[in-house]
Amino acid sequence: MHNKHAKLQSLADEIISQNVCPELAQSATQLVMGDGNPDASIVLIGEAPGKNEDEQGLPFVGASGRFLDEMLAAAGLVRNDIYITNIVKYRPPNNRDPSPSEKQAFWPYLARQLEIIDPTVIVTLGRHSMEFFLPKAKIGQVHGHAVRKRVAFHDGKEHEWLIMPLYHPAAALYNGSMRQTLIDDFLGVTQLIDK
Ligand code: URA
Repeated sequence: MHNKHAKLQSLADEIISQNVCPELAQSATQLVMGDGNPDASIVLIGEAPGKNEDEQGLPFVGASGRFLDEMLAAAGLVRNDIYITNIVKYRPPNNRDPSPSEKQAFWPYLARQLEIIDPTVIVTLGRHSMEFFLPKAKIGQVHGHAVRKRVAFHDGKEHEWLIMPLYHPAAALYNGSMRQTLIDDFLGVTQLIDK
């Protein structure tokens, strides 16, 4: 446990010292590396920090985060039962979408973060994180369906992961029927773990 904490901390230090996305780093308050339990078997990956996340240094602490907590509660889980992070780890100005080059710049660090945690299932929240694992997938067709996928990482390394694509929790804030879809899909994640 402490070993994983230390490795994640040194990965965060590397992102800072290697000056990843210097413009985002400049405009953001701080790096938002991740939160929760690095020994968890479920890792959730969002898009990028928003205003609240940028201020607090923690992922999913705003409106999307409150709905995420409801999804967890429906499965009898709390934050400390999972680990949560984002593909892009600095807040993009005015909450714009992260650019392809920003996502690409953070990908090797996300890959290493996943190697450190070594979860049983990776839950992608929305298309920005899904596209790294399931580049051709359409979220409307694949959400809630887990797939085992070999993913090319960094340094020529490959890793096989169980990927569960979900809609982004923010979608539920604007579309009421999406709430139940997200909760049902998330219950599918916990059934995978129980198997
Ligand atoms: N949306 C995300 O994708 N990530 C966060 O951390 C907050 C909102």
